Amino acid sequence: MEDAVPEQRNEFNDKRPQFGNRVLSDNDNIFQHNAWDNVKWDEAQQNLAQQKVNENSTIILSEEKIEEYESKADKFWDKFYGIHENKFFKDRHWLFTEFPELAPATVKQNVEQPLRFVSENPNNDEQKSHIKIVDIPSNGGSKILEIGCGVGNTIFPILLYNTDPNLFIYCCDFSIKAIDILKQNPAYDTSRCKAFVLDATKENWETPFKLESLDIVVLIFVLSAVHPNRMKHVIQQVHKYLKPGGLVLFRDYGRYDLAQLRFKKGSCIAENFYARGDGTRVYFFTQEEVRTLFTICGFTEEQNLVDRRLQVNRGKQLKMYRVWIQGKYKK
Ligand SMILES: C[S@@+](CC[C@H](N)C(=O)[O-])C[C@H]1O[C@@H](n2cnc3c(N)ncnc32)[C@H](O)[C@@H]1O
Repeated sequence: MEDAVPEQRNEFNDKRPQFGNRVLSDNDNIFQHNAWDNVKWDEAQQNLAQQKVNENSTIILSEEKIEEYESKADKFWDKFYGIHENKFFKDRHWLFTEFPELAPATVKQNVEQPLRFVSENPNNDEQKSHIKIVDIPSNGGSKILEIGCGVGNTIFPILLYNTDPNLFIYCCDFSIKAIDILKQNPAYDTSRCKAFVLDATKENWETPFKLESLDIVVLIFVLSAVHPNRMKHVIQQVHKYLKPGGLVLFRDYGRYDLAQLRFKKGSCIAENFYARGDGTRVYFFTQEEVRTLFTICGFTEEQNLVDRRLQVNRGKQLKMYRVWIQGKYKK
């Protein structure tokens, strides 16, 4: 499986401006650094990516196999965590630069000037991004829920850096194994957080909090693991549990990410939705799809961005184009 965020551990306080600022201006310099930010794709690259997707999108999996991936989705993730335990997804240094709402006090100390966001352009052309400045919210949410928390790579940094005395974090995952591992972490502090098992695609949720009680819901690399025909239901549920004015923080795989282009024929379950070799599944979003999902469920868009990064393997002289979509949606 592709690493969601192949970054170094414990870099939560990285002062990197949002999406980074190392811009490749001369192609001859490409192998001088490990990564370049805000990479622009030209039409030829876009077309080539679409061609690769066309090639790997022929659905040759049997109905039974597709049904097995759906009905045993949690078991495939249990197996994944049984193998990797807490060593696969890394704690991420971009968490508080992208989502200062998760630890407002920390961010205020570390950011000397307003963060700059690469925004999508109004014509919905992902290639022509423009820069806009967005305010850093000053009041943190005191009740946060993370869905698809895995083994806690997001909640533990929040517990460490969020100084709000009223903070309480709920986190859930449908993998019993992931929640078990998370609870064994010495940083799991039951006076400040509660982890529980929940399949977010289920019609009704059993939760330790009430409807309209949450300030923030975090969806980081989780909606992509849900079948596209259940995504709307998940977002509707999130809407029910958020307070009016509450915020969703979303980050996930974008269309034509390296991970999508690497799939071989025979992995495709539905358009842009694939099964990995280990049975876990992944969808690759466009900005417009994310916008539609949230707005039809009653949310107002605060942010919808594409983060394109070029990662370089200098030893092997390899270029790897990563694409992530990020959004903030208010109830
Ligand atoms: C790609 S991993 C990301 C984990 C974590 N958010 C991170 O970024 O480190 C996707 C996670 O979503 C969980 N997940 C997938 N489908 C889910 C569902 N229907 N309900 C709850 N959790 C789910 C998986 O068990 C897995 O832990």
